[in-house]
Amino acid sequence: MRVVIIGGTGHVGTYLVPRLADAGHEVVCLSRGQREPYQPHAAWKWVKQIQVDREAEEKTGVFGARVRDLAPDAVIDMICFTPESTRHLVEALRGRVQHFLHCGTIWVHGPSVEVPTTEEQPRRPFGEYGIKKAAIEAYLLDEARRGGFPVTILHPGHIVGPGWHRLKQGGNFIPQVFAQLARGEELALPNLGLETVHHVHADDVAQAFIQALANWSGAVGESFHVVSRAALTLRGYAELMAVWFGQPARLRLMPWEEWRATVSEAEAVATWDHIAHSPNCSIAKAERILDYGPRYSSLQAVAEAVRWMIEQEGLLETSSKPQ
Ligand SMILES: NC(=O)c1ccc[n+]([C@@H]2O[C@H](COP(=O)([O-])OP(=O)(O)OC[C@H]3O[C@@H](n4cnc5c(N)ncnc54)[C@H](OP(=O)(O)O)[C@@H]3O)[C@@H](O)[C@H]2O)c1
Repeated sequence: MRVVIIGGTGHVGTYLVPRLADAGHEVVCLSRGQREPYQPHAAWKWVKQIQVDREAEEKTGVFGARVRDLAPDAVIDMICFTPESTRHLVEALRGRVQHFLHCGTIWVHGPSVEVPTTEEQPRRPFGEYGIKKAAIEAYLLDEARRGGFPVTILHPGHIVGPGWHRLKQGGNFIPQVFAQLARGEELALPNLGLETVHHVHADDVAQAFIQALANWSGAVGESFHVVSRAALTLRGYAELMAVWFGQPARLRLMPWEEWRATVSEAEAVATWDHIAHSPNCSIAKAERILDYGPRYSSLQAVAEAVRWMIEQEGLLETSSKPQ
């Protein structure tokens, strides 16, 4: 198929574009050209890259027509964050594509009710990002089921992998937390440390997109969680990372109000956003319908990213090496 991917040079695209090319698809990648994929791959030689600023072209109303005029069989939209942006594209592509895949997020769920959370749970999102992504999902599923628009929505968890810092130990993005664990230093965690994070390796997200394309009849009109097999509690996460560094875990649990005074306001806000969601999502539907099988556990995905930070960025200058 001729697959157009919008935003294909980021975390997921780094893995997805080579997988698409390896699967024999003709790939066209749209991005502003401001960044390179995290890892080189020979497949990029065969990928047509087009420089485009989606936001700017949406303002002038030409973005949808641009995508349609590339005559795609399938479109993968990695970077859509508003219902208006989604609608603009769907209106241009209606009746013109075999498959439209939207990258959502597990933040379409608010606080969990019954865990692991399934795709069937009513949406109770909070925060602008999750609310808008849930509205996009509702719109797209309606277009699929009422209007026959061939959409699949994939909801990743916290995406990790080598090449970037988006690691959420402690529920935020502070790489130094890993250095603390590596040095065997005490780490303070909020509450009982029993709130959860649910990671997924970027290559497993890429796998899910490939599987959705390959399982069209089951995938269309559906949304799927794309996470590792199991979420981690913050305390379990810290304990496992400490073991990985060959150190005892020295954890101190603090009531939220006390804990938040130990970090900056921005870190407290990021942590609150994660622990208030405490995601714990089921992949049973993706396993059953897409034959999705994540290669990485949450810890393996994080460990690969931490190893990259150690080797490429000198995260641990004086601390122990991982086992
Ligand atoms: N990160 C997470 O933990 C997480 C978790 C759940 C869901 N998600 C979802 O994952 C998706 C993002 O995927 P990702 O993490 O692979 O993306 P990413 O790493 O942020 O990469 C974004 C891609 O889009 C391009 N891009 C950004 N702005 C653009 C614009 N205005 N016009 C054209 N291209 C543009 C970037 O290249 P240029 O900069 O060169 O344009 C790059 O190719 C989102 O839908 C998000 O909701 C992320």
